Amino acid sequence: MDPAAFLADLEPTAARLLDRHLSQAKEWFPHELVPYSRGRDFVAGYEWSPDEVPLPDEVRSSLFVNLLTEDNLPYYFRTIEAMFGRDSAWGEWSRRWTAEEGRHSIVIRDYLTVTRAIDPVALERARMAQVSCGQVPEPATPHEGLVYVSLQELATRIAHHNTGKLVDDPVGYEIMKRVAADENRHHLFYRDLTTEALSVDPSGMIVAIERQVREFEMPGTGIVDFDVHARAIARAGIYDFQAHHAQILVPVVLRHWGIEDLTGLNDEAERARDAVLKRIDRIGKAAQRLSRRRAEAEADVDQRIPQPA
Ligand SMILES: [Fe+2]
Ligand SMILES: [Fe+2]
Repeated sequence: MDPAAFLADLEPTAARLLDRHLSQAKEWFPHELVPYSRGRDFVAGYEWSPDEVPLPDEVRSSLFVNLLTEDNLPYYFRTIEAMFGRDSAWGEWSRRWTAEEGRHSIVIRDYLTVTRAIDPVALERARMAQVSCGQVPEPATPHEGLVYVSLQELATRIAHHNTGKLVDDPVGYEIMKRVAADENRHHLFYRDLTTEALSVDPSGMIVAIERQVREFEMPGTGIVDFDVHARAIARAGIYDFQAHHAQILVPVVLRHWGIEDLTGLNDEAERARDAVLKRIDRIGKAAQRLSRRRAEAEADVDQRIPQPA
């Protein structure tokens, strides 16, 4: 289906879901959450040390990637506005969404600066590097865009929330939980818009779902050493194959969008549906294998730790 006709057909649903979002979103203020009383000036020649705040490297990796991802907002906005347009409910949504996302980097950065949980120099250099390169996923069509942002907002919610649980600080947990709640509302907007899109253009949407499930990448790929951090984040169970399968692909793609039961698909879409169902199954099996291996490795380490006599 032609992108312009597709977006025009979906616009009333976008307007309804925007109203729902606005009625459910609660105003909140970063300054009320950040523990400024813990802060102090950075003296000249200050050099950060991990001893400032003892945290597992994996959790630091996650805070680093989560914040840098939020910092790349200008490029997400550009992509979303180009894909959905700047008029009507589409434009109103993307601007409102941008304003909400801006809060996330403000609150996380202030928290990390005040608590000194991450090297502020490395963080600022990484922000400059990332925003200067401006690399973000760019779905090819509005169909694919809807699928990508549905999956990505939920993935981001899971990553923020799990990071919050591991920062070992009730204030940090509260901040990450608040951000995760926003990501969840963004996910619901896109998820339900995608449900409607599946009835507007079922064949086009199934082809888009297949491609996005196949190519899915978290939005932080432009971050320096992203792969190293992504592996650390998976190791800590913050965001891994298991979460991707059990908390995203199964509940959203299979159950909520019900792709197995869709009817009236053309041949290309039937093939895409077969392919995506097989892929989800394979990802589930790989996730099980990985978590078994991780459990075995942990048991191995436990056995090597000298036990008290
Ligand atoms: Fe965000
Ligand atoms: Fe979001």
